Amino acid sequence: MSLMAQEDEGRVRPSPLRRLIPGGVKQALKRAWLEYKFSGAVRRIADLPPGSMPTRDMLERLQAAWTNRGFVAKGDYLEEVARRAVETDGPILECGSGLTTILVGLLAGRRGVVTWSLEHMPVWHARVRERVKRYGIRGVHVCLSPLREYGGFSWYDPPAEMLPGEFKLVICDGPPESTPGGRYGLLPVLGDRLQAGALILLDDANRPSETEVLRRWGAEADISVEMRERPTGTFALVTRR
Ligand SMILES: C[S@@+](CC[C@H](N)C(=O)[O-])C[C@H]1O[C@@H](n2cnc3c(N)ncnc32)[C@H](O)[C@@H]1O
Repeated sequence: MSLMAQEDEGRVRPSPLRRLIPGGVKQALKRAWLEYKFSGAVRRIADLPPGSMPTRDMLERLQAAWTNRGFVAKGDYLEEVARRAVETDGPILECGSGLTTILVGLLAGRRGVVTWSLEHMPVWHARVRERVKRYGIRGVHVCLSPLREYGGFSWYDPPAEMLPGEFKLVICDGPPESTPGGRYGLLPVLGDRLQAGALILLDDANRPSETEVLRRWGAEADISVEMRERPTGTFALVTRR
């Protein structure tokens, strides 16, 4: 019988040993275990030859160890992000930092392609920057960019003078749905840095707020939209024409 749990008529009861471990210690052990798993998943991807696509299993392990369920990019969207990060000659703009920042940095940074990531939450900005530093991921700038009012919508206040004049790829997974205007601000605020052929990967593209964003972008800019409906979620490939 396991030291940590005893089965009793189908129910799993914590063993006496487990009950003796204080809650704070259990939490710390769990965090350390997840960090260990995450570092293993990062190493497997970092060890791939530059230009190679990670397997689905590698991506799933990375995502599982990052946790943050409900907010993290997953499944087919994460795979599409990886595929484009492997192929693009950049630069890359990311709206909403997190696991995708780490993944894009791992795959694009070592090919000399730079990523600029906008994040409005100080706690997430610090968390992602710390991971970027810890794992020695190159070419990633995580910018603390508070949301500001632009007259009818809110969006990041990016460090415009520091950003490249042109982006080839945008990972558009923020700001959160509750933001007035949602992700709409990308084109009015930074659209002049997206030339013909630039690709926006818009996650959650079938939510009402993103449907409205696509409608407004389509009315105001020359774009093509390809919806990808997948079991793990719906996203859109938006190309500037
Ligand atoms: C959909 S998340 C971006 C996720 C990122 N692309 C990833 O793969 O991890 C959009 C924004 O939600 C915010 N966010 C992330 N995790 C959160 C949490 N657990 N609670 C509240 N807001 C969160 C952050 O500001 C983030 O930029």
